[in-house]
Amino acid sequence: MADKKFEKNLLCIGAGYVGGPTMTMIAHKCPQYKVTIVDVLPEKIKAWQTDDLPIYEPGLLELIKLCRGKNLFFSTDVETGIKEADIIFISVNTPTKTFGEGAGKSADLQYWEKTARDILRTAESDKIIVERSTLPVKTAIAMERILSLNEKGLKFEVVSNPEFLAEGSAIKDLEKPDRVLIGSKENESGIKARNEIVEIYANWIPRDRLITSNLMSSELSKLVANSFLAQRISSINSISALCEKVDAEISEVAHAIGKDSRIGDKFLNASVGFGGSCFKKDILNLVYLCETFGLNEVAAYWESIVKMNEYQTSRFVQTINKAMFNTLTNKRIAVFGFAFKANTSDTRETAALYVTQKLMMEKAHVVISDPKAIKNAKNDLKNYGDDIEFQEDPYKAAKSAHAIALITEWDLYKTLDYTKIYHEMEKPAFIFDGRNILDHEKLYKIGFEVYPIGKAPLIHFKEG
Ligand code: NAD
Ligand code: UGA
Repeated sequence: MADKKFEKNLLCIGAGYVGGPTMTMIAHKCPQYKVTIVDVLPEKIKAWQTDDLPIYEPGLLELIKLCRGKNLFFSTDVETGIKEADIIFISVNTPTKTFGEGAGKSADLQYWEKTARDILRTAESDKIIVERSTLPVKTAIAMERILSLNEKGLKFEVVSNPEFLAEGSAIKDLEKPDRVLIGSKENESGIKARNEIVEIYANWIPRDRLITSNLMSSELSKLVANSFLAQRISSINSISALCEKVDAEISEVAHAIGKDSRIGDKFLNASVGFGGSCFKKDILNLVYLCETFGLNEVAAYWESIVKMNEYQTSRFVQTINKAMFNTLTNKRIAVFGFAFKANTSDTRETAALYVTQKLMMEKAHVVISDPKAIKNAKNDLKNYGDDIEFQEDPYKAAKSAHAIALITEWDLYKTLDYTKIYHEMEKPAFIFDGRNILDHEKLYKIGFEVYPIGKAPLIHFKEG
């Protein structure tokens, strides 16, 4: 039921990377709505109530400070939240299932279904449920079926409204999205519910960017969008391997093909491999969906994108090993960047984790450096105890190191004093640029042995 001071009560279940920023943006743009974000983790909610937020996202804290306590609230009281809400956004996690049927591919829907049952048990009035998590096709229909089992005569309309923000640029993406997609059943009640959601976004987003569709198209579009984006990265990464063999340069190839307006220049940065909580998970979800319908060739096509990504990351480690005379034992290697991309503290599915694990298997002395992700890195690597060193300061990390492995494209790594770093490193001093963000010629002139991605290495010592 709407608080009298406000036109509507909006609730979001799940205070994570999606729930936090997206609902903050709604609160900021729509002071007429009361926005409450709930989560089952008390320590996370507590952090959202302070200036030390549980996630790092540029510009987020500033927006939160403008609305928190006015029309934006964080709470662990899921039940009261559900009772008071007119519209419930659900952005709980939907990781890849690790057990039972579909393990390793399909989505684990346990958190999702729990929210459906919490709503069923607690709600005392009709509500619109907005599916924000990324889910298999037809999940909205399944949810509506669960909710229709209520014995209180309540009506629930489930709409799909997938989120397309990218971490690190979430605030910009939410303020000016390319599009917002809202899918619903195409009957009268479905369209009415969908229009209510459209009106929320219309408070700041031009109407021609508010796209509507049926439920299944909306759910499928989310999986397909992420799969297409990842496909571009795997495509350019596959060509980077070829470039290294034929003396071509991947940045020149990317530039040349990207100038074709049909191809476009975005998402063509060759790298050590894509990471993040969603690309792999969503592709595998798509693969599982195809397999379920016996579309095995289609499934194999999309699965190859994940395989190419794994190949690219393992290739990076092989290059390090081979360049450093096939032994890394006791060598100090500074890993520059542990976040899965720049401008985030998120380390889920980061290539840095795989690289670190492999270096540890080779008995290297690994030092992790990152401006924002050290806390998450320590948690990810806690099994190694004191065997891994953490140094936020890249100069300290690289001091006495035999090599630097650059994994995350943080701007700060572009402007370091590499002459100073070089002089404090063991020689030969190796640098493996997993993002191609450094000035390779300059590094070579300083004295480094330089190994970019998709470009022949610049080395001083050439085998006879
Ligand atoms: P997250 O893990 O950061 O946040 C999810 C939150 O939900 C957690 O804090 C968890 O404690 C909470 N939660 C789980 N079950 C709950 C319950 N029953 N009641 C209350 N809270 C509960 O996850 P995320 O990165 O925000 O992703 C959420 C969804 O959005 C996923 O489906 C993901 O695929 C999708 N998505 C993520 C991004 C992204 O950039 N991270 C972008 C687009 C879509
Ligand atoms: C991605 C999508 O871009 C979002 O639209 C989507 O909402 C989100 O997934 C999601 O569903 O979670 P995100 O994973 O946050 O967003 O970040 P991206 O910018 O897409 O980068 C993903 C990974 O690909 C990162 O590791 C990044 O470094 C890598 N990448 C990206 C490359 O290696 N090369 C590129 O050219 C671009």
